[in-house]
Amino acid sequence: MRSNIRTNLYLALAILILAGFAWVFAACSADQSQAEKPAGETPNGNSKCYVCHPGLRTEELTTVHLEMGVTCDECHGPTIEHMHDEMLMTKPDFLFGRAEVNKMCSNPTCHKPGGERIVYGFEDHKDIAAVKAFHKKWLGRTRPNGRAITSDSVCTDCHGTHNLDKPIGTQSEQDGEWINAFNGRDLKGWQPSGAASWRVKRGQIAATAGPNGEGGTLWTEAIYEDYLLSVTFRTTRPIHAGIWLRAAGSELGPRVEIFDPPEADKPTAFTGSVWVPEKGLALANLREDLVDRESWNTLSVRVEGYRIQVWLNGEEVGAIRTGGPAKGKIGLHIEKGLVSGAGELCVREVLVQRLGEPEEKASTASQY
Ligand code: HEC
Ligand code: HEC
Ligand code: HEC
Repeated sequence: MRSNIRTNLYLALAILILAGFAWVFAACSADQSQAEKPAGETPNGNSKCYVCHPGLRTEELTTVHLEMGVTCDECHGPTIEHMHDEMLMTKPDFLFGRAEVNKMCSNPTCHKPGGERIVYGFEDHKDIAAVKAFHKKWLGRTRPNGRAITSDSVCTDCHGTHNLDKPIGTQSEQDGEWINAFNGRDLKGWQPSGAASWRVKRGQIAATAGPNGEGGTLWTEAIYEDYLLSVTFRTTRPIHAGIWLRAAGSELGPRVEIFDPPEADKPTAFTGSVWVPEKGLALANLREDLVDRESWNTLSVRVEGYRIQVWLNGEEVGAIRTGGPAKGKIGLHIEKGLVSGAGELCVREVLVQRLGEPEEKASTASQY
C-alpha cells in the first residue's frame, strides 16, 4: 500500500504542479509524514477552528482525516484571515461546492481512482459489494446529513455530516445558535446517575449496562425548556436506550426510544418512538427501515410547550402532545435488563438549540 503510494508520487507531483494545486499536495503529504504519530492534536491542529466550529470536533469526515494528520488547514488552507476576522466577512481560503467534492477527494495522493477513472468510484472502494448495498438501500432517501442519495452522489453525500451542523426538518429555524452539549473530550457538563457505564472514547460517548445489567442515565447539568435537539448515535444489538427530554427530579416526562432488541423478540415499534412513564408508548415508529443498524443515525426532536415532534434520519416519525415537566434536563439513558457488555450506545453529537429564550440565558449552557 505504502510503496504503491510512493511509486505514484512522481506522477502525482507532476499533475499537481501542473494544476497549481500546491495546497492539495500539502494536504496529502501530511497523510504520509504524520501517519506514524499518534492520532490527535498537533500544534497545528484543529483547535483553533473548533472555537467557532464546535460541531466539527466529533464529525466523521473531520475526525477520520485528523487521525491521519489531515487537519482543516490541509483542505481549507491556513484560513488565517477568516479566523481573525471579527466581522466574519472573509471566507476560508478554499471552499468546495458540492459539485467540486468528488474531484477534490479523488486526488492522486489521497483517494486515487483505479483504471482510467478520474473519480474515485464504487469500484475503488475496498468492499465494493458493501458500497453497492449501501447505495441501493439509501437510493432516493435522505441521509442523516440532509443529503439525498441519487445515482450520482458525491463522497460527502454518503460520508460524514461535514456539510451540515443542524438537524433536518428544522431548516427554517437555523438562525438560532446550535450548542454541542458534548465537547468530544470528556463528560464536562454531564452527570451520571445509576450504574450504567459512561466513557468517552475516540471522541464519542460510549454507554453500556452495569455489571449486573443495571440501567442508568447521563444527565445534562443544564436545564432546557423549549428546544431543538439533534443526537447522532450508533448502537450494537441488543440495545434498549433512549433520551429523556425534560426530566425534573423524579418527574421524568417523555423519552425518545432507541431500541434494537434481539430479532427473536419480533418488535413492533422502533427507534424514534416516544415513551411516557405510566402511559407507555405515546408515539410509535412502525417503520423499521428508518434506522441504519450498521451506521450513524440522527434523531432530531422539537420540544415546544407540550408538543414533541420527532425525526429519524430526516424523516418525520410524528408528533404528540404530552404532559410532564415544562422544563428539565436532557438525559442519555440505558434501560436496565440488558446483558452487561452486550449492547452499546455510542453518541457522537448532542446539538441543542434553545427556542424563544433570551440570549444570555441560552449561553449559560455553552461548553467553551
Ligand atoms: C472567529 C470564529 C471562526 C473561526 C476561528 C473559524 N471560523 Fe470558519 N466560519 C465562522 C463563521 C461564523 C462561519 C459562517 C459564515 C457564513 O455564514 O458565511 C464560518 C464558515 C466557514 C466555512 C464555510 C464558508 C462558506 O461560505 O460556506 C468554512 C469552510 C470554514 N468556516 C472553515 C474554517 C476553518 C478551516 C477554520 C480554522 C482554520 C475556521 N473556519 C475558523 C467562524 C469562524
Ligand atoms: C479532507 C478534507 C477536509 C477537511 C480535513 C476538512 N474539511 Fe471542511 N469541507 C471539506 C469539503 C469537501 C467541504 C464541502 C462539503 C460538501 O458541501 O459536500 C467542506 C465544507 C466545510 C464547511 C461548509 C459547510 C457548509 O454548510 O457549507 C465548513 C464550515 C467546514 N468545511 C469547516 C471545516 C473545519 C472547521 C475543519 C476542521 C475542523 C474542516 N472543515 C476540515 C473538506 C474538508
Ligand atoms: C453511495 C455512497 C458512497 C459514496 C458516493 C462514496 N462512498 Fe466511500 N464508502 C461508502 C461505504 C458504505 C463505505 C464502507 C464500506 C464498508 O463497509 O467497508 C465506504 C468506505 C470508504 C472508505 C474506506 C476504505 C474503503 O475504500 O472502503 C474510503 C477511503 C472512502 N469510502 C472514500 C470515498 C471517497 C473519496 C468518495 C468520493 C470520491 C466516496 N468514498 C464516495 C459509501 C460511499
